[in-house]
Amino acid sequence: MSRQANILLGIAGGIGAYKTPMLVRELAKTGAQIRTVMTRSAHEFVTPASLQAVSGFEVRSETFDRSAEAAMSHIELARWAHLILIAPATAHLIARLAHGLADDLLTTIVLASNAPVVVAPAMNMHMWSHPATERNCTKLTEMGYAMIGPDEGEQACGDEGPGRMVEPCDLADQVVALLQKSARVEGLLTGRKVLVTAGPTREAIDPVRYISNHSSGRQGFAMCRAARAAGAEVTLVSGPVSLTTPPGVKRIDVVSAQEMQGAVMACAPQMDMVIAVAAVSDFAPVKLAEHKIKKQQSAGNWRLELAANPDVLAEVAALDDAPFTLGFAAETRDVEDNARAKLEAKGIDMIAVNDVGNQTIGFNSVNNAMTLMWREAGSVASERLAFSSKDEIAARIIARASACLSACDD
Ligand SMILES: Cc1cc2nc3c(=O)[nH]c(=O)nc-3n(C[C@H](O)[C@H](O)[C@H](O)COP(=O)(O)O)c2cc1C
Repeated sequence: MSRQANILLGIAGGIGAYKTPMLVRELAKTGAQIRTVMTRSAHEFVTPASLQAVSGFEVRSETFDRSAEAAMSHIELARWAHLILIAPATAHLIARLAHGLADDLLTTIVLASNAPVVVAPAMNMHMWSHPATERNCTKLTEMGYAMIGPDEGEQACGDEGPGRMVEPCDLADQVVALLQKSARVEGLLTGRKVLVTAGPTREAIDPVRYISNHSSGRQGFAMCRAARAAGAEVTLVSGPVSLTTPPGVKRIDVVSAQEMQGAVMACAPQMDMVIAVAAVSDFAPVKLAEHKIKKQQSAGNWRLELAANPDVLAEVAALDDAPFTLGFAAETRDVEDNARAKLEAKGIDMIAVNDVGNQTIGFNSVNNAMTLMWREAGSVASERLAFSSKDEIAARIIARASACLSACDD
């Protein structure tokens, strides 16, 4: 790591807390400074004296501690942290984080900080697979928190299954990798305005039916998080999805392609970059029926007349003084040839294409693999983004796109 990393380790009241002095030592080996904050229950599993000895800093727990606040307030701690690691993260703490509670020092710091948050769950396997925990973890992921683990194996309670905290040395390695990833994009888009479109559109047929597609919005939301991590002011224009808005992102909700066009064109002239990840429906019904179309209305087959929707990104690219334009394409065959043709036809600066015929990536999966193509010195350059999480792919795309944007400025 190029700069010394400040890691705030949050420790909750799980049995895995007894491993945290070892975790502090592993993290310290990377050259990072570690400060620890414990929940009240955590004191039952590990002593502040051990943590203070290995970290070299006083351990904090209480929100209302006047002498500690005078030395370093909860806000200063929130600002000090380059990364917040919560290990072990109990089911209870995960629930409090998912609901945005600030009922102790640790949860208050998490809310007050801009730093990336990494959560290492550790709990009994039944607590881990409970739908409430599943829902809470999904919320944390949607908010951009990274999850490490849990591992599977023998548990303290005698059960065998998923729920063990990842071992301290592996946890430290993964945290270092995350710090390097956020350092990769840090500051690349400071002072820039970025608009991201995400999700599907819905084209109404009648008051109860519509045409749409399988886009989940996950890759677009990951692009928002990566652009925020790079320092951009981010506006998200989202179709109907059930995802939580990433922190610090201004969100405009739309339903149809026409609404998306209206929202994007109103903002685009003020933007430095427009990233179109939304799967905008190519066609919409020519006529919206005022009332529900009845089965008997059309004996046998029924023909629905469709008209082409506007190509929103091509319109942005055609603006005078257009922002840098990055489009996403989902293809099922001749993936790279089709992407190259789209780059030309739309007149955009960059295109990211994925093969949605492959079930392990794309639309509804959490992972992705893409090919990025952009104009460079009169020809088309490309980069293959290997199979990884949508957040990792997003960070790589932002790194490449911001380099191209800076090259346009020169
Ligand atoms: C011996 C013992 C071990 C526990 N281990 C865990 C654990 O590994 N994970 C967990 O989620 N809860 C565990 N709990 C329950 C938590 O301590 C309890 O839910 C507590 O309210 C967590 O508070 P906190 O999340 O604010 O630290 C354990 C409880 C006891 C008594």
